[in-house]
Amino acid sequence: MKGRVLSGMQPSGKLHLGNLFGALQNWVRLQEEYDCFYFIADWHALTSNYADVSEIRSNIKDILIDWLAAGLDPKKSTIFIQSRLPEHAELHLLLSMITPLPWLERVPTYKEKQDEIKDRDLCTYGFLGYPVLQAADILIYRAGYVPVGVDQLPHLEITREITRRFNNFYGHIFPEPQALLTEYPKIIGIDGRKMSKSYGNAVFLSDIPEEVERKMKIMITDPARARRTDPGNPDVCPLHSLHKVFGKKDDIERIDRNCRDASIGCTDHKDMLIKEALAILKPFSEKRKELEARPDQLDKVIASGVEKAKAVASETMAMVREAMKI
Ligand code: TRP
Repeated sequence: MKGRVLSGMQPSGKLHLGNLFGALQNWVRLQEEYDCFYFIADWHALTSNYADVSEIRSNIKDILIDWLAAGLDPKKSTIFIQSRLPEHAELHLLLSMITPLPWLERVPTYKEKQDEIKDRDLCTYGFLGYPVLQAADILIYRAGYVPVGVDQLPHLEITREITRRFNNFYGHIFPEPQALLTEYPKIIGIDGRKMSKSYGNAVFLSDIPEEVERKMKIMITDPARARRTDPGNPDVCPLHSLHKVFGKKDDIERIDRNCRDASIGCTDHKDMLIKEALAILKPFSEKRKELEARPDQLDKVIASGVEKAKAVASETMAMVREAMKI
Protein backbone atom coordinates (compact mmCIF):
# COMPACT_ATOMS: atom_id res chain seq x y z
CA MET A 1 0.00 0.00 0.00
CA LYS A 2 1.36 3.39 -1.03
CA GLY A 3 1.25 6.20 1.53
CA ARG A 4 -1.32 8.90 0.84
CA VAL A 5 -0.28 12.45 0.00
CA LEU A 6 -2.65 15.40 -0.07
CA SER A 7 -2.09 19.02 -0.95
CA GLY A 8 -4.00 21.98 -2.28
CA MET A 9 -3.53 25.45 -3.70
CA GLN A 10 -5.82 28.42 -3.68
CA PRO A 11 -6.94 29.48 -7.15
CA SER A 12 -5.43 32.95 -7.10
CA GLY A 13 -4.38 33.28 -10.72
CA LYS A 14 -1.71 31.96 -13.00
CA LEU A 15 1.23 30.09 -11.51
CA HIS A 16 4.78 31.43 -11.63
CA LEU A 17 8.28 29.99 -11.47
CA GLY A 18 8.17 30.18 -7.68
CA ASN A 19 5.11 27.89 -7.59
CA LEU A 20 6.72 25.57 -10.12
CA PHE A 21 10.05 25.11 -8.36
CA GLY A 22 8.68 25.58 -4.87
CA ALA A 23 5.80 23.13 -5.00
CA LEU A 24 4.59 21.83 -8.30
CA GLN A 25 7.71 19.94 -9.38
CA ASN A 26 7.74 18.25 -6.01
CA TRP A 27 4.08 17.27 -6.44
CA VAL A 28 4.91 15.81 -9.85
CA ARG A 29 7.74 13.72 -8.35
CA LEU A 30 5.57 12.48 -5.50
CA GLN A 31 3.11 10.98 -7.99
CA GLU A 32 5.56 8.15 -8.62
CA GLU A 33 5.78 7.01 -5.02
CA TYR A 34 2.52 7.96 -3.35
CA ASP A 35 -1.21 7.83 -3.80
CA CYS A 36 -1.62 11.58 -4.40
CA PHE A 37 -4.67 13.80 -3.95
CA TYR A 38 -4.30 17.36 -5.28
CA PHE A 39 -7.11 19.85 -5.14
CA ILE A 40 -8.00 23.44 -5.93
CA ALA A 41 -9.00 25.16 -2.68
CA ASP A 42 -11.75 27.47 -3.93
CA TRP A 43 -13.45 27.78 -0.52
CA HIS A 44 -10.14 28.87 0.95
CA ALA A 45 -9.97 31.58 -1.71
CA LEU A 46 -13.34 32.83 -0.43
CA THR A 47 -12.03 33.26 3.13
CA SER A 48 -10.17 36.38 2.06
CA ASN A 49 -11.77 37.16 -1.33
CA TYR A 50 -15.43 36.78 -0.50
CA ALA A 51 -16.56 40.14 -1.85
CA ASP A 52 -15.12 39.91 -5.35
CA VAL A 53 -15.79 36.51 -6.90
CA SER A 54 -15.60 37.68 -10.48
CA GLU A 55 -12.39 35.82 -11.25
CA ILE A 56 -12.76 32.63 -9.28
CA ARG A 57 -13.91 30.43 -12.17
CA SER A 58 -11.26 31.62 -14.58
CA ASN A 59 -8.64 31.24 -11.85
CA ILE A 60 -9.69 27.63 -11.30
CA LYS A 61 -9.34 26.94 -14.99
CA ASP A 62 -5.93 28.64 -15.15
CA ILE A 63 -4.51 26.74 -12.22
CA LEU A 64 -5.79 23.43 -13.56
CA ILE A 65 -4.15 24.09 -16.92
CA ASP A 66 -0.87 25.04 -15.22
CA TRP A 67 -0.97 21.86 -13.10
CA LEU A 68 -1.54 19.58 -16.06
CA ALA A 69 1.02 21.41 -18.21
CA ALA A 70 3.57 20.99 -15.43
CA GLY A 71 3.04 17.24 -15.38
CA LEU A 72 0.36 16.42 -12.82
CA ASP A 73 -1.14 13.34 -14.35
CA PRO A 74 -4.81 12.44 -13.81
CA LYS A 75 -3.95 8.79 -14.44
CA LYS A 76 -1.61 8.79 -11.45
CA SER A 77 -3.16 11.39 -9.14
CA THR A 78 -6.63 12.35 -7.99
CA ILE A 79 -7.15 15.95 -9.12
CA PHE A 80 -10.29 17.81 -8.04
CA ILE A 81 -11.97 20.99 -6.81
CA GLN A 82 -12.70 21.37 -3.09
CA SER A 83 -16.22 22.78 -3.44
CA ARG A 84 -17.34 19.77 -5.46
CA LEU A 85 -16.96 17.66 -2.29
CA PRO A 86 -19.45 18.91 0.34
CA GLU A 87 -17.92 16.30 2.69
CA HIS A 88 -15.07 18.78 3.33
CA ALA A 89 -17.65 21.27 4.63
CA GLU A 90 -19.39 18.73 6.82
CA LEU A 91 -16.14 17.65 8.42
CA HIS A 92 -15.14 21.30 8.80
CA LEU A 93 -18.32 21.93 10.75
CA LEU A 94 -17.77 18.97 13.05
CA LEU A 95 -14.11 19.86 13.64
CA SER A 96 -15.14 23.43 14.44
CA MET A 97 -17.06 22.07 17.43
CA ILE A 98 -13.88 20.79 19.07
CA THR A 99 -11.40 23.49 18.03
CA PRO A 100 -10.65 25.94 20.87
CA LEU A 101 -10.74 29.58 19.76
CA PRO A 102 -7.32 30.43 21.24
CA TRP A 103 -5.70 27.82 18.97
CA LEU A 104 -7.04 29.73 15.96
CA GLU A 105 -6.23 33.17 17.31
CA ARG A 106 -2.59 32.27 17.82
CA VAL A 107 -1.96 30.92 14.28
CA PRO A 108 0.64 33.44 13.01
CA THR A 109 -0.91 33.85 9.53
CA TYR A 110 -4.17 35.03 11.11
CA LYS A 111 -2.70 38.28 12.46
CA GLU A 112 -0.09 38.63 9.71
CA LYS A 113 -2.63 38.53 6.89
CA GLN A 114 -4.93 40.92 8.72
CA ASP A 115 -2.06 43.40 9.07
CA GLU A 116 -0.92 42.89 5.50
CA ILE A 117 -4.28 43.07 3.70
CA LYS A 118 -5.81 46.48 4.29
CA ASP A 119 -8.33 46.68 1.45
CA ARG A 120 -10.53 43.83 2.74
CA ASP A 121 -12.08 43.09 6.08
CA LEU A 122 -10.64 39.84 7.41
CA CYS A 123 -12.40 39.94 10.77
CA THR A 124 -14.75 37.21 9.62
CA TYR A 125 -15.76 33.88 11.05
CA GLY A 126 -14.66 32.12 7.85
CA PHE A 127 -11.20 33.64 7.87
CA LEU A 128 -10.57 32.69 11.48
CA GLY A 129 -11.67 29.16 10.60
CA TYR A 130 -9.27 28.86 7.65
CA PRO A 131 -7.05 26.32 9.44
CA VAL A 132 -10.06 24.22 10.48
CA LEU A 133 -11.12 23.96 6.85
CA GLN A 134 -7.57 23.02 5.94
CA ALA A 135 -7.57 20.33 8.65
CA ALA A 136 -10.81 18.97 7.19
CA ASP A 137 -9.25 18.89 3.69
CA ILE A 138 -6.42 16.74 4.98
CA LEU A 139 -8.30 14.50 7.39
CA ILE A 140 -11.19 13.70 5.07
CA TYR A 141 -8.71 11.66 2.98
CA ARG A 142 -6.87 10.34 6.06
CA ALA A 143 -3.69 11.57 4.37
CA GLY A 144 -0.36 10.72 5.98
CA TYR A 145 1.75 13.31 4.17
CA VAL A 146 1.22 16.91 3.19
CA PRO A 147 3.76 18.55 0.87
CA VAL A 148 3.83 22.26 1.77
CA GLY A 149 6.21 25.20 2.03
CA VAL A 150 7.47 26.44 5.39
CA ASP A 151 4.80 29.16 5.44
CA GLN A 152 2.17 26.43 5.85
CA LEU A 153 3.78 24.69 8.83
CA PRO A 154 1.62 26.46 11.44
CA HIS A 155 -1.48 25.24 9.58
CA LEU A 156 -0.17 21.70 9.62
CA GLU A 157 0.66 21.93 13.29
CA ILE A 158 -2.89 22.94 14.20
CA THR A 159 -4.20 20.12 11.98
CA ARG A 160 -2.13 17.71 14.07
CA GLU A 161 -3.49 19.20 17.29
CA ILE A 162 -7.07 18.92 16.06
CA THR A 163 -6.36 15.32 14.99
CA ARG A 164 -5.14 14.37 18.46
CA ARG A 165 -8.09 16.03 20.10
CA PHE A 166 -10.56 14.29 17.81
CA ASN A 167 -8.95 10.86 18.24
CA ASN A 168 -8.86 11.41 21.97
CA PHE A 169 -12.58 12.19 22.21
CA TYR A 170 -14.03 9.77 19.67
CA GLY A 171 -11.49 7.01 19.05
CA HIS A 172 -8.59 6.67 16.68
CA ILE A 173 -9.92 7.50 13.22
CA PHE A 174 -7.33 9.81 11.77
CA PRO A 175 -3.57 9.36 11.26
CA GLU A 176 -1.54 12.41 12.33
CA PRO A 177 -0.43 13.97 9.05
CA GLN A 178 3.21 14.90 8.49
CA ALA A 179 4.61 17.78 6.46
CA LEU A 180 6.82 16.97 3.49
CA LEU A 181 8.92 20.10 3.16
CA THR A 182 9.85 21.11 -0.35
CA GLU A 183 13.45 21.42 -1.40
CA TYR A 184 13.39 25.06 -2.57
CA PRO A 185 11.36 27.04 -0.10
CA LYS A 186 12.25 30.50 -1.44
CA ILE A 187 12.38 31.54 -5.07
CA ILE A 188 13.57 35.08 -5.79
CA GLY A 189 11.57 37.38 -8.06
CA ILE A 190 12.87 39.93 -10.53
CA ASP A 191 13.09 42.67 -7.88
CA GLY A 192 15.13 40.56 -5.46
CA ARG A 193 12.25 39.86 -3.07
CA LYS A 194 10.50 36.51 -2.73
CA MET A 195 8.66 35.73 -5.97
CA SER A 196 5.00 36.46 -5.43
CA LYS A 197 2.07 37.44 -7.59
CA SER A 198 1.15 40.23 -5.19
CA TYR A 199 4.60 41.84 -5.43
CA GLY A 200 4.36 42.05 -9.22
CA ASN A 201 7.83 40.45 -9.50
CA ALA A 202 6.86 37.06 -10.89
CA VAL A 203 7.64 35.25 -14.13
CA PHE A 204 4.52 33.24 -15.01
CA LEU A 205 4.50 29.81 -16.63
CA SER A 206 2.11 31.25 -19.19
CA ASP A 207 4.26 34.31 -20.05
CA ILE A 208 5.13 34.50 -23.74
CA PRO A 209 8.91 34.38 -24.48
CA GLU A 210 9.11 38.16 -25.11
CA GLU A 211 7.59 38.78 -21.69
CA VAL A 212 9.99 36.39 -19.95
CA GLU A 213 12.87 38.15 -21.65
CA ARG A 214 11.61 41.62 -20.78
CA LYS A 215 11.18 40.73 -17.11
CA MET A 216 14.51 38.98 -16.75
CA LYS A 217 16.38 41.80 -18.49
CA ILE A 218 15.39 44.21 -15.73
CA MET A 219 16.22 41.78 -12.96
CA ILE A 220 18.22 43.19 -10.05
CA THR A 221 21.82 41.94 -9.59
CA ASP A 222 24.50 42.61 -6.93
CA PRO A 223 23.82 46.30 -6.18
CA ALA A 224 27.49 46.93 -5.31
CA ARG A 225 28.62 45.90 -8.79
CA ALA A 226 28.30 49.27 -10.48
CA ARG A 227 30.64 48.72 -13.44
CA ARG A 228 31.31 45.74 -15.68
CA THR A 229 34.92 45.67 -14.43
CA ASP A 230 33.91 45.52 -10.73
CA PRO A 231 34.04 42.04 -9.21
CA GLY A 232 30.56 40.83 -8.23
CA ASN A 233 29.27 38.93 -5.23
CA PRO A 234 27.00 36.03 -6.28
CA ASP A 235 25.98 35.45 -2.66
CA VAL A 236 23.86 38.61 -2.68
CA CYS A 237 22.82 38.52 -6.34
CA PRO A 238 19.15 37.66 -7.03
CA LEU A 239 20.07 36.50 -10.54
CA HIS A 240 22.38 33.85 -9.09
CA SER A 241 19.86 32.85 -6.52
CA LEU A 242 17.19 32.24 -9.16
CA HIS A 243 19.61 30.54 -11.54
CA LYS A 244 20.76 28.09 -8.84
CA VAL A 245 17.25 26.69 -8.73
CA PHE A 246 17.23 25.36 -12.27
CA GLY A 247 20.75 25.77 -13.73
CA LYS A 248 23.28 22.94 -14.14
CA LYS A 249 25.64 22.64 -11.18
CA ASP A 250 28.82 22.98 -13.30
CA ASP A 251 27.50 26.09 -15.06
CA ILE A 252 26.53 27.70 -11.78
CA GLU A 253 29.97 27.09 -10.28
CA ARG A 254 31.70 28.49 -13.33
CA ILE A 255 29.49 31.58 -13.44
CA ASP A 256 30.05 32.08 -9.72
CA ARG A 257 33.85 32.20 -10.25
CA ASN A 258 33.59 34.34 -13.36
CA CYS A 259 31.37 36.86 -11.57
CA ARG A 260 33.78 37.16 -8.64
CA ASP A 261 36.74 37.87 -10.96
CA ALA A 262 34.64 40.08 -13.26
CA SER A 263 35.30 37.94 -16.31
CA ILE A 264 31.58 37.87 -17.06
CA GLY A 265 29.12 40.73 -16.67
CA CYS A 266 25.56 40.78 -15.38
CA THR A 267 24.20 41.15 -18.91
CA ASP A 268 26.07 38.04 -20.07
CA HIS A 269 24.68 36.14 -17.13
CA LYS A 270 21.17 37.39 -17.82
CA ASP A 271 21.36 36.22 -21.41
CA MET A 272 22.27 32.72 -20.24
CA LEU A 273 19.49 32.71 -17.67
CA ILE A 274 16.92 33.86 -20.23
CA LYS A 275 17.95 31.17 -22.69
CA GLU A 276 17.61 28.44 -20.08
CA ALA A 277 14.33 29.76 -18.70
CA LEU A 278 12.82 29.87 -22.18
CA ALA A 279 13.94 26.29 -22.84
CA ILE A 280 12.25 25.18 -19.63
CA LEU A 281 9.03 27.09 -20.37
CA LYS A 282 8.68 25.99 -24.01
CA PRO A 283 7.10 22.58 -23.37
CA PHE A 284 4.68 24.24 -20.90
CA SER A 285 3.38 26.72 -23.37
CA GLU A 286 2.89 23.97 -25.94
CA LYS A 287 0.97 21.81 -23.49
CA ARG A 288 -0.95 24.88 -22.31
CA LYS A 289 -2.15 25.66 -25.82
CA GLU A 290 -3.32 22.07 -26.28
CA LEU A 291 -5.27 22.16 -23.02
CA GLU A 292 -6.82 25.56 -23.66
CA ALA A 293 -8.24 24.20 -26.88
CA ARG A 294 -9.87 21.25 -25.07
CA PRO A 295 -12.13 22.47 -22.24
CA ASP A 296 -14.03 19.16 -22.42
CA GLN A 297 -10.79 17.42 -21.47
CA LEU A 298 -10.45 19.62 -18.37
CA ASP A 299 -14.02 18.84 -17.33
CA LYS A 300 -13.28 15.13 -17.67
CA VAL A 301 -10.19 15.36 -15.49
CA ILE A 302 -12.18 17.03 -12.73
CA ALA A 303 -15.18 14.72 -13.05
CA SER A 304 -13.03 11.63 -12.62
CA GLY A 305 -11.03 13.24 -9.79
CA VAL A 306 -14.22 14.20 -7.94
CA GLU A 307 -15.51 10.65 -8.30
CA LYS A 308 -12.33 9.12 -6.86
CA ALA A 309 -12.13 11.68 -4.05
CA LYS A 310 -15.81 11.15 -3.22
CA ALA A 311 -15.27 7.43 -2.65
CA VAL A 312 -12.72 8.12 0.09
CA ALA A 313 -14.42 11.20 1.54
CA SER A 314 -17.80 9.53 1.95
CA GLU A 315 -16.19 6.53 3.61
CA THR A 316 -14.42 8.81 6.09
CA MET A 317 -17.62 10.73 6.81
CA ALA A 318 -19.44 7.48 7.57
CA MET A 319 -16.73 6.65 10.12
CA VAL A 320 -16.83 10.15 11.61
CA ARG A 321 -20.63 10.24 11.96
CA GLU A 322 -20.54 6.86 13.63
CA ALA A 323 -17.76 7.93 16.00
CA MET A 324 -19.58 11.16 16.93
CA LYS A 325 -22.97 9.43 17.15
CA ILE A 326 -24.47 11.79 14.61
N1 TRP B 1 -3.50 26.89 2.71
C1 TRP B 1 -2.88 26.35 1.53
C2 TRP B 1 -2.17 27.47 0.78
O1 TRP B 1 -2.60 28.60 0.81
C3 TRP B 1 -3.89 25.71 0.61
C4 TRP B 1 -4.54 24.52 1.24
C5 TRP B 1 -5.87 24.43 1.59
C6 TRP B 1 -3.92 23.31 1.60
N2 TRP B 1 -6.11 23.23 2.13
C7 TRP B 1 -4.95 22.50 2.16
C8 TRP B 1 -2.61 22.82 1.52
C9 TRP B 1 -4.67 21.23 2.64
C10 TRP B 1 -2.35 21.55 2.00
C11 TRP B 1 -3.37 20.76 2.56
O2 TRP B 1 -1.19 27.21 0.14
